[in-house]
Amino acid sequence: MKTELLPVNAASLAYAKELIAAGELVAFHTETVYGLGADARNGEAVAKIFRTKGRPADNPLIAHIHREFDIHRLIGVDPPYAKALREAFLPGPLTMVYPSKGKVAEAVSCGLETLAVRVPSSETAQAFLRAVDVPVAAPSANRSKHVSPVTAEHVMADLGGEIPLILDGGPCTGGIESTVLDCTGEIPLILREGLVTREMVAEVAGDCGVYKLRAGEKPKSPGMAYRHYAPRVKTAYFPQGELASAKALLRAESEAGGKPFVLCESEAKPYFGGYPVLDLGASPEEMAARLYRLLREAETCATLLVAIEPREKEGVMAGVLNRLRRAFGVEA
Ligand code: TXA
Ligand code: MG
Repeated sequence: MKTELLPVNAASLAYAKELIAAGELVAFHTETVYGLGADARNGEAVAKIFRTKGRPADNPLIAHIHREFDIHRLIGVDPPYAKALREAFLPGPLTMVYPSKGKVAEAVSCGLETLAVRVPSSETAQAFLRAVDVPVAAPSANRSKHVSPVTAEHVMADLGGEIPLILDGGPCTGGIESTVLDCTGEIPLILREGLVTREMVAEVAGDCGVYKLRAGEKPKSPGMAYRHYAPRVKTAYFPQGELASAKALLRAESEAGGKPFVLCESEAKPYFGGYPVLDLGASPEEMAARLYRLLREAETCATLLVAIEPREKEGVMAGVLNRLRRAFGVEA
């Protein structure tokens, strides 16, 4: 199959609408990462998402809707705090999990009685969702377990030849996937950390928990059980206290004829003088926006990628650290 990579305009949106109606997949830009979309009501189309990505069959998908779409067509009763959160943060990088009305194909939620819904703020995403005017089930548009795509070219590299259309909306400015928030309980519970932080949710909802998977327990969000976001390059990970060991490893790799790169925040850069650095930046938002692009860049140039854990751990950094640790196979 030939994969077309088109800018977003009336002609490409009409084509996208035709494809979605025919049960095909369309990759589209959002403010977090690119999504791989299908009509959420069409079970065959949803099955195609799982097949194309190589995604485990028990990892549910998010339904994406445009801002005028009435969410109550899809979800049952929701607590008062959910309405307040929608008003405060949507459209934006917050996915909310509700009791489902069962209006989308069963495969979307993998048999769970809940449905994750997201209203992306990207204008390109809004244009696409308005054009098709159906709930669009979409995971990130990468091959399962690979780094999530933050440019249309990343999607092409992973899925070129297997999907008919990528709507190019330029680079994603958010850079890590949306916060996933369970809104079925007394207080909201963060299932996946992201740019909308626990503190931000608590300020609006009065309280907010963070779900921690306990050993042996069935995860509330099945995606939590998988190693994710892994770059295809040898990796090593060092906390702040072990910079000297990191340097020793870099030296050993160089001496063995390899090309090691360091992935670290701007401030740590001078310590690694002489070695090429992939600079995550200074602020948490900057690090979120750059992380996946740099992981994919490392695949093209490094024989070993050595990550140095940034110092800040709170707020937006909780989400960045979660992705960074999982990309490097470290307990998140
Ligand atoms: O930013 C994003 O969220 C991107 C863009 C494309 O919107 N999408 C994304 O989708 O990251 P995906 O499939 O890579 O991650 C969806 C996460 C998974 O961890 C999944 O387990 C969780 O959401 N999830 C989906 N439905 C759920 C449900 N009903 N209950 C609990 N967790 C759910
Ligand atoms: Mg994903």
